[in-house]
Amino acid sequence: MRPIMVAGNWKMNGLSADAVHLTQAILHAEMEPMRPEVVIFPPFTLLHAVSQEAKSSALRWGGQNLFWEASGAYTGEISGAMLRDMGCRYVLIGHSERRQIFAESDAQVAQKVKVALLSGLTPVVCVGETEAERAQGATEAVIHRQVEAVLPLLNLETSQPNMIIAYEPIWAIGTGLSASPEQAQAVHAFIRGLVAAYSTQLAKRLLLLYGGSVKGNNAAALFGQTDIDGGLVGGASLQVGEFIQICRAAELAGRGG
Ligand code: 13P
Repeated sequence: MRPIMVAGNWKMNGLSADAVHLTQAILHAEMEPMRPEVVIFPPFTLLHAVSQEAKSSALRWGGQNLFWEASGAYTGEISGAMLRDMGCRYVLIGHSERRQIFAESDAQVAQKVKVALLSGLTPVVCVGETEAERAQGATEAVIHRQVEAVLPLLNLETSQPNMIIAYEPIWAIGTGLSASPEQAQAVHAFIRGLVAAYSTQLAKRLLLLYGGSVKGNNAAALFGQTDIDGGLVGGASLQVGEFIQICRAAELAGRGG
């Protein structure tokens, strides 16, 4: 059975005091032992504060992005080693906001995944279609293209996947309009099928997160779907009560890690 994960993407929000407050609140929610696996993705500037609060707990944290070179003259960029130095285990790669606002290509996403793996980080690769693409019936084609860009980087020699994939339909992000559990399940099953073409063993074990207006009141229905292994939560991860409610829904989805 796959474990279940709840990840909170804080995006470009929060100052030091918020990081301490939010992290402490999650720790005090006492999900003991930490089921689901809870991971937070604060802005780079708050990684240290989060790590100080969470270092002796089961809570994990990660970066929202990284650059594909190890070091050098790349003003404003952050390397995998820098994230590891902050205690990160995970890194988000190819979030739709990066693909859309910063024009990240599938090839760049793949390069970032490669360097994340070399740095010892687990990439959470984000994929998702726009509203127009869904309306044109192009959802599967878009997801296929985005997922195929990173699947050659799967570790085929072991049975434990080295990456996580998050399906985040762009039309559901920050809109309050989540994909229905059935819509999300259909795409998750499609992604798992793509992975199965590489390895059925890895496909069975690969964590597939859903993101896009996950809230306390829709999390249980989403997490109840066969191929949805948790959530990547944006706005609601900044609201302590909502986020804890989502974590509780994951706990109740009844999977052990
Ligand atoms: P919302 O939960 O705010 O829709 O954001 C989803 C997201 O982009 C998480 O990465």
